[in-house]
Amino acid sequence: MDGGQILFSYIKVWVILLLLSATFQNSKLAAKNTAQDKKRKLAADNSGFISIDCGAEKDYLDGKTGITYKTDEDFISTGKNTVVAPEYYLTIPYLGDMVNSLRTFPEGERNCYTLKPRQGKNQNYYVRAFFYYGNYDSKNQTQIMFDLYIGVNRWATVLLVLENMYGSAYYEIIHYSVTDTIYVCLENTGFGVPFINGLDLRFMNDSSYRSMNGSLIPRMQADLGSLDPTDSSMRYIDDVYDRIWRLDVNLNDSVLISTEANIDIQGSDNPCRLPVEVLRTAVQPQNGLNSLSYNYASPYKENFTPEFRVYFHFAEILEQTAPGKLREFTITLNGLKYGPFTLEYLKPLTIGPYTLQVPEYQVGFFIDATLRSDLPPILNAFEIFELWPLPDSPTNQADVDAIMAIKKAYKIDRVDWQGDPCLPLTAWFGLQCNDDNPPRIISLNLSSSQLSGNIVVSLLNLTAIKSLDLSNNELIGTVPEAFAQLPNLTILDLSENKLTGAVPHSLKEKSNSGQLQLSLDGNLDLCKMDTCENKQRSFPVLVIASVISVSVLLLLSIITIFWRLKRGRLNVSLSSSVGLSRKELSLKSKNQPFTYVEIVSITNNFQTIIGEGGFGKVYLGNLKDGCQVAVKLLSQSSRQGYKEFLAEVQLLMIVHHKNLVSLVGYCNEHENMALVYEYMANGNLKEQLLENSTNMLSWRERLQIAVDSAHGLEYLHNGCRPPIVHRDLKSSNILLTENLQAKIADFGLSKAFANEGDSHVITDAAGTPGYIDPEFQETGNLNKKSDVYSFGILLCELITGQPPIIRGPKGNTHILHWVSPLIERGDIQSIIDPRLQGVFNTNCAWKVLEIALSCVPPTSIQRPDMSDILGELKECLAMEMSSEMSKRDSVEMSLVFGTDITPNLR
Ligand SMILES: *[C@@H]1O[C@H](CO)[C@@H](O)[C@H](O)[C@H]1NC(C)=O
Ligand SMILES: *[C@@H]1O[C@H](CO)[C@@H](O)[C@H](O)[C@H]1NC(C)=O
Ligand SMILES: *[C@@H]1O[C@H](CO)[C@@H](O)[C@H](O)[C@H]1NC(C)=O
Ligand SMILES: *[C@@H]1O[C@H](CO)[C@@H](O)[C@H](O)[C@H]1NC(C)=O
Ligand SMILES: *[C@@H]1O[C@H](CO)[C@@H](O)[C@H](O)[C@H]1NC(C)=O
Ligand SMILES: *[C@@H]1O[C@H](CO)[C@@H](O)[C@H](O)[C@H]1NC(C)=O
Ligand SMILES: *[C@@H]1O[C@H](CO)[C@@H](O)[C@H](O)[C@H]1NC(C)=O
Repeated sequence: MDGGQILFSYIKVWVILLLLSATFQNSKLAAKNTAQDKKRKLAADNSGFISIDCGAEKDYLDGKTGITYKTDEDFISTGKNTVVAPEYYLTIPYLGDMVNSLRTFPEGERNCYTLKPRQGKNQNYYVRAFFYYGNYDSKNQTQIMFDLYIGVNRWATVLLVLENMYGSAYYEIIHYSVTDTIYVCLENTGFGVPFINGLDLRFMNDSSYRSMNGSLIPRMQADLGSLDPTDSSMRYIDDVYDRIWRLDVNLNDSVLISTEANIDIQGSDNPCRLPVEVLRTAVQPQNGLNSLSYNYASPYKENFTPEFRVYFHFAEILEQTAPGKLREFTITLNGLKYGPFTLEYLKPLTIGPYTLQVPEYQVGFFIDATLRSDLPPILNAFEIFELWPLPDSPTNQADVDAIMAIKKAYKIDRVDWQGDPCLPLTAWFGLQCNDDNPPRIISLNLSSSQLSGNIVVSLLNLTAIKSLDLSNNELIGTVPEAFAQLPNLTILDLSENKLTGAVPHSLKEKSNSGQLQLSLDGNLDLCKMDTCENKQRSFPVLVIASVISVSVLLLLSIITIFWRLKRGRLNVSLSSSVGLSRKELSLKSKNQPFTYVEIVSITNNFQTIIGEGGFGKVYLGNLKDGCQVAVKLLSQSSRQGYKEFLAEVQLLMIVHHKNLVSLVGYCNEHENMALVYEYMANGNLKEQLLENSTNMLSWRERLQIAVDSAHGLEYLHNGCRPPIVHRDLKSSNILLTENLQAKIADFGLSKAFANEGDSHVITDAAGTPGYIDPEFQETGNLNKKSDVYSFGILLCELITGQPPIIRGPKGNTHILHWVSPLIERGDIQSIIDPRLQGVFNTNCAWKVLEIALSCVPPTSIQRPDMSDILGELKECLAMEMSSEMSKRDSVEMSLVFGTDITPNLR
């Protein structure tokens, strides 16, 4: 299977709105709840719902949401139940208690929930998964990421960031299921143990949200004109499908209107089955205006053109004062005009869906009153969906049924036999599938699996099978003749079992003609003769049998090798898919999104420039809590662009290390893009090393900076999977905190590399003169070792205080050319920055110089790995510290002696 097929990873993250006021609201809600309890209990028995509270101890009716939750016992057999830490316990009315328990999956790459809705296949289902970390493992994790699959296709990459809302999110999809069973799988991609708190499935009894070409991911479901701003959302029981409506969406220059009158939602006018509460409120333009407008910009960018689907929901809710007054309007959606439309009092009207392909990921609409309209337009609600492609089909249903029957018959209880047998990414252990869409099972190896009983007939339903290995089990009974009917079966290994009876003639024929490698050795009571009267084996049969078994063995080992190779390849594609999925992360999910207005206020209208990079200017900012930040604003004309912006945000989202500059938030409002970083009070290393710098860095400080930077880079290279190559390491990208702790910045040019040995040919220029790996310049191959080269230059800078390209009266000299002759002369005093005035440990200085030189050989193979460099540098630092210590100790010692001895002398 090609890893590339499952890489469409849009992300639907609605960061769960935590009502900070949730606790004090409880009393108010409690009253409301009691009143609604009866209504809720009646409606709670809704056959179209599957509501799972993962990790719950028992089934229960949640009083807050009116939803009857089941434990996940019947839906999954792997994983462990647990609860969030008490101090993170959430009380959010519209989520209820469901979020506070969870199931975690420390074992197995893939763990799947098996949902079998009563309505079966070829139906639409609203599926929603909730995730809330809540420090359940007491590990204070700051970030967890894993993949979520629906069936065999990726649905989302779950990204939970602890600083942001305690690491909570939910993901939704309207899924058209072509199978009776819907699997929801969590795939461990190496960025933390997957877990899940809740899983909902709602049968959608209509086709309004039906999509032929994929599933629909809700991007925006807005109930306009909500009267109760303290409610953040509306869902079940108001909404029959348990959609979660956002109440916090506002249209520019609009006012709220509402009615208490009853709107007829039962009729055919309401195909989307909107709740009456959604239709009872609306917005209309402010006095004197005749137009409503809204712009939606999706933060979930992809490398192909997305298809959006937009629904507008109306209902006339204002009683006409003078009869005959007309409310008529047109809708202009991304420049295309529809209408005119008119409304009838208290009758719902859904207009759409309109399908749009928008490379810009933007949906904008105007609703304008027509010239003859007496009244301004209104809008009650709207929905924007994105079509989610489902490229992979689940495994051939007959094969699935057969393998499920086999699993059941032999009580095969393997952790990895979950979800679809062939997809995603890998097949179940012991299974091989072909690349067809839908895939077929072509090989089954259940050797040494403690199978007992007869050979089950379901095996014969695997009609595409080529190789079947049931050797080394306890199988009894006869060999079914029907094996000869499997057209593509070329290997059948039934050896070392307890089979009895005669070997079917047709199988023997196939074996004799070379069509089938048949292995029956070690079944002592099996009669292999044509005439089964004589149980004694004759010599020729023995010879033939052993010849056959030798060739089978040979073949088997060849197959094993191929199999291994194939598995190896799969692993590689797995990791490259991780790399890509990382690229597709959403911006919204990380950290704090800032509006442009906030950015302006944080930077006091861009008052203080503290730097300028390839990206644009960097400004000093102050957050409301008084924290200082650095705000990097993407200038319109900047050399880098939107792609680099996204790249940088995405990397910063995933990569956290004390020696890497961390992101506080970002702004992504149309043309205005900014990144908000922690403020690094001491600027960058380049400035610190300048001749006229006010604070001269001591040798010890330089060593510490070298160790810090090596640490950061080592983490990028070896701590990240796939490894990250910085591509533009230089002293101006090493930033220093108040305490001179060094952190690496500017990942804008970084690229994640799928695997280590792999080097990539880069077409665009990368790097800064003086730091660029000569091998890269020659061949265009960029890899981790290119960073090592740059790091070597950086060390030289730290040691000598010289820039990488030294400007002189006779032209420019590269720092390595400058330093080489001095090294040959052994002249360490001339090499080391004269400003240190000899205050350094010479041994240590030599060692650092050696390390620097080990980084810069012309060919990358000769350069060491960052982990070795880090180890060596740490040794140097330890050496330096102990020598300082012993100096200090001897001073202290003499002081001690001074006070102790002197009185004695007196
Ligand atoms: C998590 O944080 C708490 C409080 O900050 C601390 O007491 C605890 O040791 C931390 N646990 C781990 C595993 O870091
Ligand atoms: C589905 O909708 C139709 C009419 O819209 C209704 O008659 C039928 O009972 C509904 N079925 C379910 C299971 O809700
Ligand atoms: C499905 O996709 C095909 C092409 O890929 C397109 O022609 C067709 O209109 C789409 N159908 C729907 C219902 O979107
Ligand atoms: C509100 O108006 C501003 C300025 O015209 C526009 O940039 C913004 O996108 C509008 N907001 C919405 C939600 O449409
Ligand atoms: C089945 O698996 C066993 C052990 O895992 C291996 O020795 C054997 O060669 C495999 N059989 C086939 C047909 O690949
Ligand atoms: C095998 O397949 C046939 C037809 O496809 C089906 O009727 C039968 O139930 C299957 N048997 C088993 C044991 O899976
Ligand atoms: C058997 O193999 C042939 C050729 O490899 C293929 O065309 C055919 O579809 C296969 N049969 C089944 C039932 O998969």
